[in-house]
Amino acid sequence: MELSAALEEIEKAENLEALQGVKVRYLGRNGLLTQAMKTLGQLPLEERRERGRVLNEWKGTIEKALEEREAALRARALEERLSRESVDVTLPGYAFPSGGLHLTSLILGELLRIFRRLGFSVVEGPEVESEYFNFDALNMPEWHPARDMQDTFWVEFRGPTPFTIQGPFGESVNHRGGAVLRTHTSGMQIRYMIAHTPPFRIVVPGRVFRYEETDASHEAMFHQLEGLVVGQGITMADLKGAIEELARGLFGKEGKARFQPTFFPFVEPGVQFAMWWPERGKWLELGGAGMVHPYLFRAVDDYREERGLPRVYEGMTGWAFGMGVERLAILRYGIPDIRYFYQNRLSFLRQFRG
Ligand code: DAH
Repeated sequence: MELSAALEEIEKAENLEALQGVKVRYLGRNGLLTQAMKTLGQLPLEERRERGRVLNEWKGTIEKALEEREAALRARALEERLSRESVDVTLPGYAFPSGGLHLTSLILGELLRIFRRLGFSVVEGPEVESEYFNFDALNMPEWHPARDMQDTFWVEFRGPTPFTIQGPFGESVNHRGGAVLRTHTSGMQIRYMIAHTPPFRIVVPGRVFRYEETDASHEAMFHQLEGLVVGQGITMADLKGAIEELARGLFGKEGKARFQPTFFPFVEPGVQFAMWWPERGKWLELGGAGMVHPYLFRAVDDYREERGLPRVYEGMTGWAFGMGVERLAILRYGIPDIRYFYQNRLSFLRQFRG
């Protein structure tokens, strides 16, 4: 055998398997070098010693070459794998669509932040409401023409499970009238007053429903924010102050409010209010308000008395307001059609992701 041939074969082995083959071919039990060593015994002593030394040297050289080649092959394989499996960080990433708050939620959040700062609690009420809380207790009896202002979805329950509308204490109020999808959040004024002792200040965000033919300015569902403050010595000046504060919260320190007299059965006097938008030099008509009508206090105390609770609204005064949430967004952003809000038009909604 020739050392140079062995070394050449090692150098030419292109993978670990081939290299193993070369190793067996020379160093294996029947390998060429092994064979050569086995024939040493037939040589005369001098020659044997010399030849033995050479073969041993070759063996060392071959082993070293094998080792080096193996290391090189392993390094190359790793290199290849790394380049094959590497991530090209310069590629554009996958888009992970992220959600965002709906425009209505953004506006409501903004409104609630302002009122929380003024010490208001935020409470919510049911969307399927008793006719009594939605209308009667708000001084809107069945025969009152004001009921015509709010076209109503009446709710009828059919089927095997009897349905109860619950009052503020979980009691059934089914005997007090029919059921409606609440036409406004004002019914929560009654519910909250029945269950609480003044003074308090609350705001009530929520969905309301009107039986409307839908068009650019009418939707069958929209949101309102109701406010109610009751205590001793509460005046219309407090109402004006709060609405002014809201105007400043929304439109900056140049913001201000304007009241114009109008009629709502549950307030006296009643107003519609607008806010001054300094940047545009415009008044925005945003809602109604007024001093809580004494009728409401009486109805609430009567209800309490029926349940054995003390009358606590005599001598109290208070104010309330109600405003349209979508309406504020529509005016502020110049949204041409209220139907955009709830049609899941992403191209529309994405513009307001904050
Ligand atoms: N509930 C009225 C509506 O939906 C708005 C409103 C007006 C609420 C005057 C009030 C108020 O609390 O005082 O049209």
